Amino acid sequence: MTAPRILVIVAHPDLTTSRITAHLTAGIRDLDGVTIRDLASAYPDRRVDTAVEQQLLRDHDTIVLQFPWHWYSVPGVLKEWMDQVLTHGFAYGNGGDQLHGKRLQLVISTGGPESSYTPTGHNRFTMAELLRPLEATAHLCGLDMAEPLILHSAHRVAPEELAAHIARYRELLSAVPAAAH
Ligand SMILES: Cc1cc2nc3c(=O)[nH]c(=O)nc-3n(C[C@H](O)[C@H](O)[C@H](O)COP(=O)(O)O)c2cc1C
Repeated sequence: MTAPRILVIVAHPDLTTSRITAHLTAGIRDLDGVTIRDLASAYPDRRVDTAVEQQLLRDHDTIVLQFPWHWYSVPGVLKEWMDQVLTHGFAYGNGGDQLHGKRLQLVISTGGPESSYTPTGHNRFTMAELLRPLEATAHLCGLDMAEPLILHSAHRVAPEELAAHIARYRELLSAVPAAAH
């Protein structure tokens, strides 16, 4: 058995302006078997290197997409990565089985409180409903999607709540089984 192979794709448009994503990233950096990929700094011009990203995906068993919730969806930098990396023949379609059986973990922060993500709340829909496109993407790519880890009320979260959330995130990644190869 070797260490788990976990790829954390950090998809924030600019980590220098981030509080939550920056702290979450710093909080897991020392974990065994974790590779952190900061998309905005890897690709300031948004021209994603498809071959490099696909090889990173092949080399890991658990894929974490860590991002702030932007307009009820993923930030543009992650959409760009998805469009250019999850290609036909790699992630889906004829011969597109390279992600089959890998685990997908979403780690999301939202500005809105949890209570706003209800049918009668400010944001009208639940997170589970709004995450359907990502669930469909995981299904198409043969990824096994875990329960998302969500931090709500990102602007108001107290330092101790953020620390507790980082501890949960660390536990979750530490519970990923070691690779059997
Ligand atoms: C362009 C943009 C769009 C956003 N859209 C939403 C949204 O649709 N729903 C929501 O709850 N928060 C939204 N937010 C708030 C962010 O989710 C929140 O600021 C972020 O999770 C905080 O993480 P950070 O400190 O790493 O930036 C948005 C923020 C920005 C900048």
